[in-house]
Amino acid sequence: MKYSHLQPHHPAASQGLDRFDDGTLNMLATSILLIDEQCCVLALNLAGETLFDASASRALGEPLELLTALDKEWRDLLHQAQAEEFPVVRRGIMLRLRSGHQQAVDLTVSPIASESGIHLLLELVAVDRLHAISEGETIWESQESLRQIIKGLAHEVKNPLGGIRGAAQLLGKELGDQGLSEYTEIIMAEADRLRTLVDKMLGPREKLDLVPTNIHQITERVLQLIEVESQGNVCLDRDYDPSLPEFSADKDQITQVLLNIARNAWQATGESGQITIRTRSRRQYTLGGQRHKLVCAIEVIDNGPGIHEDIMPRLFLPMVTGSPNGTGLGLSIAQMIANRHGGLIQCQSEPGATVFTVFLPMEIC
Ligand SMILES: Nc1ncnc2c1ncn2[C@@H]1O[C@H](COP(=O)(O)OP(=O)(O)OP(=O)(O)O)[C@@H](O)[C@H]1O
Ligand SMILES: [Mg+2]
Repeated sequence: MKYSHLQPHHPAASQGLDRFDDGTLNMLATSILLIDEQCCVLALNLAGETLFDASASRALGEPLELLTALDKEWRDLLHQAQAEEFPVVRRGIMLRLRSGHQQAVDLTVSPIASESGIHLLLELVAVDRLHAISEGETIWESQESLRQIIKGLAHEVKNPLGGIRGAAQLLGKELGDQGLSEYTEIIMAEADRLRTLVDKMLGPREKLDLVPTNIHQITERVLQLIEVESQGNVCLDRDYDPSLPEFSADKDQITQVLLNIARNAWQATGESGQITIRTRSRRQYTLGGQRHKLVCAIEVIDNGPGIHEDIMPRLFLPMVTGSPNGTGLGLSIAQMIANRHGGLIQCQSEPGATVFTVFLPMEIC
């Protein structure tokens, strides 16, 4: 399709869409949609497929209304760009998908003259996506500095601890049968407890055992374990994307990640609880400052009371707990493992809806 330059100062228009092949458009994190004068879809890139939750093959040739409800604000904007033959920009306009899902987007509409009339090129960026990317980077960086602190602390604690334990053992032998062994045993038991705690804070020490992994085998195992632990008292649901390919991951460690999250969900919801595990793919997705072609998003959703607002800002730090019996290590270990896979865990919570999303890059094997 050939396009001439309507507005030479606008980058997309001045270069002409014909200079971009599908591959280039699909590399963009920005959603690109091209519509004709009747508002029928002529092109939709990969980021657009994700944003509109629709495949390009189904959307092509269909009216834009099939993807999103066009209210007066949208109609006026499209009309203005077409009538004035000048790009129009709107920040934070609401995109209402046919599924009922809403998403605020920054929108640029550029008219492009083609052989068959004036087409409109729509560039859309989800507003909260940029916020989520920088939030993700912050989580990533703070976890990295935390790991360094824990490593240093663990070293300083474990060395003298070995000495204390050894000395208590010797003392116990020297004291013989004077009825004082109870005290040396307490010293040894507490030294062991401290050592275990520090080891747990360090997270799994083994190198990642990366093997081709079917994520649904892992989610099924986790649901099975929760079913057993809760003695069938919690309602477990699945909402899987069966087309997810296998990808490279450490099966045991990813099981641990999802189990720590699902166990918290079960503990929070109690007997009338409902837990759903949902899997989806995300294309051209940025994690910890790095763009990935394909990312697996595993959501663990519960209908419990939500995370207490005091805990929320420190949720992934070790020793942060809202439970009298908790060690506060479950989520920090889960985040550490996800990071080691190049991934990230994020959480959104309100009463009745807590969602933990584990993002893992899908390095297809
Ligand atoms: N789904 C959830 N709903 C409500 N609160 C939650 C949820 N998940 C986590 N929390 C809160 O976050 C806290 C920290 O969780 P984390 O798993 O790190 O530690 P923990 O469960 O307290 O102890 P453990 O180390 O045994 O897992 C929990 O104590 C709980 O207060
Ligand atoms: Mg926990």
